[in-house]
Amino acid sequence: MKLLIFLLFSICKGFSSAERGYFWHLTDLHLDPNYTVTSDPKSVCPSAGDQLVTDAGKWGNYLCDSPYALINSSILAMRAILPDPDFILWTGDDTPHVPDDKLGEEAVLDIVEYLTNLIRETFPTTKVYAALGNHDFHPKNQQPINNNTIYNNISEFWSPWLNKESIPRFQNGAFYSEELVNINTGHVIVLNTNLYYDVNRITANMEDPGDQLKWLEEELTNASQQRKKVYIVGHIPPGYFEKKRQKPWFRENFNKRYVEIIQKHHNVIEGQFFGHHHTDSFRMFYSNSGNPISTMFISPGVSPWKTTLPGVDNGANNPGIRLFEYDRSSLQVLDAVTYYLNLTYANKEAPRWEKEYRLTEAFQIPDGSAQSMHIALEKIAKDHCYLQKYYEYNSVSYDMETCGDFCRVDHVCAIREVDFTKYEECLKTESSSSRPLLQKTLISLVLFLYLVLF
Ligand SMILES: *[C@@H]1O[C@H](CO)[C@@H](O)[C@H](O)[C@H]1NC(C)=O
Ligand SMILES: *[C@@H]1O[C@H](CO)[C@@H](O)[C@H](O)[C@H]1NC(C)=O
Ligand SMILES: *[C@@H]1O[C@H](CO)[C@@H](O)[C@H](O)[C@H]1NC(C)=O
Ligand SMILES: *[C@@H]1O[C@H](CO)[C@@H](O)[C@H](O)[C@H]1NC(C)=O
Ligand SMILES: *[C@@H]1O[C@H](CO)[C@@H](O)[C@H](O)[C@H]1NC(C)=O
Ligand SMILES: *[C@@H]1O[C@H](CO)[C@@H](O)[C@H](O)[C@H]1NC(C)=O
Ligand SMILES: [Zn+2]
Ligand SMILES: [Zn+2]
Repeated sequence: MKLLIFLLFSICKGFSSAERGYFWHLTDLHLDPNYTVTSDPKSVCPSAGDQLVTDAGKWGNYLCDSPYALINSSILAMRAILPDPDFILWTGDDTPHVPDDKLGEEAVLDIVEYLTNLIRETFPTTKVYAALGNHDFHPKNQQPINNNTIYNNISEFWSPWLNKESIPRFQNGAFYSEELVNINTGHVIVLNTNLYYDVNRITANMEDPGDQLKWLEEELTNASQQRKKVYIVGHIPPGYFEKKRQKPWFRENFNKRYVEIIQKHHNVIEGQFFGHHHTDSFRMFYSNSGNPISTMFISPGVSPWKTTLPGVDNGANNPGIRLFEYDRSSLQVLDAVTYYLNLTYANKEAPRWEKEYRLTEAFQIPDGSAQSMHIALEKIAKDHCYLQKYYEYNSVSYDMETCGDFCRVDHVCAIREVDFTKYEECLKTESSSSRPLLQKTLISLVLFLYLVLF
């Protein structure tokens, strides 16, 4: 009997060796150091540009980037919710949305240093994998591929988090790779995808800026040989912005290469974690035969700043932070819990960071694997209840309007197709499938009645 119990215990232990670990993903803090609570609508925040800010609150405003108080509150909320994560992913965009001449190199560096110190002081023993955003440079978006004072200074700020070998690697292009802390079968690859941004003039005519893609392939090949699993971390995602039809960020050649690399090496990639959109969304990658092979999680930003991108309607968000749950042995993403600050409520009553939703609960999926995320996408595409839920989370429960059919097509195609050509095809098929669906239903109903009645 004792032996039986022992055996059962061993078996159960064997099965439960899949140990759950936790990590934070923090992105798009966009500190606006000049944010002021004042009744003069022109002087609340430089990041609002010419817009009048009539109801400035202590914790921020939807037209503005983050005040110090909001940044502080978000990092403290992380510590209050889970003070000892395995590690933190921090995917950049630290500075405010203001013209270059209002910022300058020193201001950019001061802000990056300030945020680095705040995160380090709040999580003194936690390893942070940090990526640069397109706003973390002067002039903004113009990241080069070689050594410069900005990369060099930032490599110093981040040196407590970086291995010795990563520092020169970072200085020459702002990308690097590191072992996953405490997990000898895991690897984190931090990319500088700002090199692929279509407004980056420096890299415009390069085939492979900084040889980053070649390096990435080599890293992935090595990981495969060493039987390691990999997380890919970056700021600007490939594919399209889900809130504006036909708006990609990458140049087409870079987008194509990125998709090909994921298709070729997906076996070792257990997750991709990006920011830049400030919204909460995800991107699917499929094999050429249509199997879901990888998911890129796009986590919401802390800055509530309403985007001024023409064509985006009411593109603000509530401040969000996200806790991922993963399997420490396989690195499979198990779940994601998004926490948020209702900014309106914070300014009226008190700053309250609350759980917005848990991925597996909200979409009724077993985990955060590519297969499960594919199921979530199909639910969003076909069931209005799931679409609406996704849509509300997309702006971190800021925009609660109905997501109609045009909106559905924008989101579904952006999630489903990272490839430019396939995205265009998706727009066509999804647009024509929606209204006829109603027509088809009506026709069937008439036919049914006809058959029953006559
Ligand atoms: C952050 O907030 C805490 C708690 O309110 C406060 O003690 C601390 O001084 C703040 N830090 C900064 C840098 O604002
Ligand atoms: C903040 O205010 C200072 C002093 O007026 C100014 O020099 C600086 O350009 C402003 N920064 C931003 C980001 O607007
Ligand atoms: C850091 O930046 C300052 C100001 O831009 C510059 O003078 C200094 O040389 C930089 N340091 C390094 C290590 O590049
Ligand atoms: C980058 O430039 C700095 C300062 O000139 C130098 O100390 C450093 O060795 C360079 N790093 C690399 C990787 O070339
Ligand atoms: C891949 O592994 C080879 C052999 O160990 C090594 O020389 C090379 O530097 C590695 N490449 C990368 C990008 O880590
Ligand atoms: C946020 O707070 C405001 C003010 O209390 C409230 O009207 C609104 O419903 C809240 N939003 C959510 C998503 O709870
Ligand atoms: Zn941003
Ligand atoms: Zn960005």
